[in-house]
Amino acid sequence: MNPLLNRLQPYPFERLRQLHAGITPNPAYRPISLGIGEPKHATPELIKTALSASLAGLANYPATAGEPRLRQAMVDWMLRRYGLALDPVTQVLPVNGSREALFALAQTVIDPTRAEATVVCPNPFYQIYEGAALLAGAQTWFAPSDPARNFAIDWAGVPEAVWAKTQLLFVCSPGNPTGAVMGLEEWKLLFELSDRHGFVIASDECYSEIYFRDEPPLGALQAAAQLGRSDFKNLIALTSLSKRSNVPGLRSGFVAGDAALIKPFLLYRTYHGSAMSPIVQAASIAAWNDEQHVVDNRAMYREKFAQVTPMLSAVMDVALPDAGFYLWAQIPARFNNDDAAFSSELLALYNVVVLPGSYLAREAQGHNPGAGRIRMALVAETAECAEAAARIVQFIQST
Ligand SMILES: Cc1ncc(COP(=O)(O)O)c(C=O)c1O
Repeated sequence: MNPLLNRLQPYPFERLRQLHAGITPNPAYRPISLGIGEPKHATPELIKTALSASLAGLANYPATAGEPRLRQAMVDWMLRRYGLALDPVTQVLPVNGSREALFALAQTVIDPTRAEATVVCPNPFYQIYEGAALLAGAQTWFAPSDPARNFAIDWAGVPEAVWAKTQLLFVCSPGNPTGAVMGLEEWKLLFELSDRHGFVIASDECYSEIYFRDEPPLGALQAAAQLGRSDFKNLIALTSLSKRSNVPGLRSGFVAGDAALIKPFLLYRTYHGSAMSPIVQAASIAAWNDEQHVVDNRAMYREKFAQVTPMLSAVMDVALPDAGFYLWAQIPARFNNDDAAFSSELLALYNVVVLPGSYLAREAQGHNPGAGRIRMALVAETAECAEAAARIVQFIQST
């Protein structure tokens, strides 16, 4: 067996299952889960129609590079969303959701024969970053998010000696779970570091279309272009339809950026067998070409967060995030930073599931930046999320 498999950590939801295994939730309440970040708004009809209208595609093997029409739809969207004119042949590639692409990109980029191959990740983080790094034969270094700066990652605190052995940096903006969006100054710092040390930046942007500020989140490629880096050197952005278009089951997204990285990535993907089904390609074209459903979806999240956030901020330290669909809240002091205990007691007394923040982060430099926090995914309908929030308020006030 591949010995690197033993280095993988249990997934946060596996740990949550174990944590809650012996608990009998209060039967007076129906169960509500704010645990998993799976979009629950309805899938747009136009995507379902495109999917069912293209079943003839079952008869063909798809090309890993995707159909020209799909690549065109992807670059057209990049132009409308970010004002970037990308080459559909060399600068974009369809992927079967950003999860597999994050993983596969690390396998393409990392050279494990170089000493102490290192991947820098935000902390807290999406656990695929860590698994991708470990299975590529690299080690991880975690840079903490700073609650005092709206959860911005402390990139400046990463020692120069760590950057010197870094081959890949994962960035998540808007962040999961914090919702923090990176600004141009942060990007400038990361580009300078990448130039100095030669590492690749993978920018995970799957929450980019769900935002609460007036300005849409700055994209990595957009930041690069604004700083005169029109070749996107050593930079790949990953985007996804899962959250934008409420199709987590479609498994569709794309990567865009440095043509010198896209080419070997295509080679890797050809051997890995990561071509996108022709049916999914057809549905994806319809999804990228339509923006109205995205506007409507965002409006639903805005209404929901406007209702739920003030309820919770009255009893705990939590605020409307820049973007994403999570609330990242600090638990009351009486829990002594024990986010797992908070989650367990809440389930037992009020039948609401929330994810302990420490499960989404690693202890690094003597500190787990998720400790004492919980993540609440506001993916269910507004009424259900508000009901969960009301129970959490009661829970906190009664304890
Ligand atoms: C930060 C982050 N990146 C990537 C993904 C993967 O999304 P998908 O594979 O559906 O595009 C998720 C899913 O929850 C996520 O939270």
